Amino acid sequence: MLKSKSQPLSLEEVKKMQNVGRLAGQTLLFIAPYVQAGISTNELDRLVYQYTIDNGAQAAPLGYHGYPKSVCTSINDIVCHGLPDETILKDGDIINVDVTCVKDGFFGDTSKTFMVGNVSENAKKLVEAAEAAMFKGIEQVAPFNTTGDIGFAIDRLVTRSGYSTVKEIGGHGIGRKFHDDPFVPSFGKKGKGDVLKPWHCITVEPMVNEGVEEVDEFPISGSTIRYYRTKDRKLSAQFEHTILVTDKGFEILTRV
Ligand code: MF3
Ligand code: CO
Ligand code: CO
Repeated sequence: MLKSKSQPLSLEEVKKMQNVGRLAGQTLLFIAPYVQAGISTNELDRLVYQYTIDNGAQAAPLGYHGYPKSVCTSINDIVCHGLPDETILKDGDIINVDVTCVKDGFFGDTSKTFMVGNVSENAKKLVEAAEAAMFKGIEQVAPFNTTGDIGFAIDRLVTRSGYSTVKEIGGHGIGRKFHDDPFVPSFGKKGKGDVLKPWHCITVEPMVNEGVEEVDEFPISGSTIRYYRTKDRKLSAQFEHTILVTDKGFEILTRV
């Protein structure tokens, strides 16, 4: 079992996490009306960059392990880390927009899958299952519960809905670092994995595939970050919140 080296957050640090978490959530609210057929993902990137700066923060993806953009935009069969480019959104697409802000030395990470115009019934159900799965996972967050409890709850809902969870990528500790221990899987066994500690933060971010769980990895030029697509090229959807483990349960820092 991984032992987190990080200390519990002080009250002041909790306030900083609440502050940056709220800004990340507000960034998703800000971008929502722009996520429409006809816009390019580069334009979404520019808007997120500017909004973040205007609010006294920085977009954490920019320059992170050489990642060249301020946000991840993952369309249809892209599972995560989709790179903004000149691709134009079209009616019927689903797109995950993943925003991470850093302010006062602390990170807030949140994402949501948007439906562009009229999407298929299949796509809508997948997106709804991904969001429900994230909340099922979040409900398991409490001091001395485990990452396995979260993963188990997520995977059960997803499997019962007829979908699959991505295994090799998942949630993570977050705070003074963008990505920290523990790994927060979207599958697992009750009581297994890492124990959740009060006054630490994690993300819960299940990636839910319409078809097979397997993914293909692709390089991003100039970066050690890779992006992922479903192996069968069917759809994938994801939602993410940053969660504070409190003394009694949890607080969703990126919900606004
Ligand atoms: N926001 C992603 C996550 O949820 C990480 C993106 S790393 C980047 O962990 F470099 F691709 F931005
Ligand atoms: Co994350
Ligand atoms: Co994220």
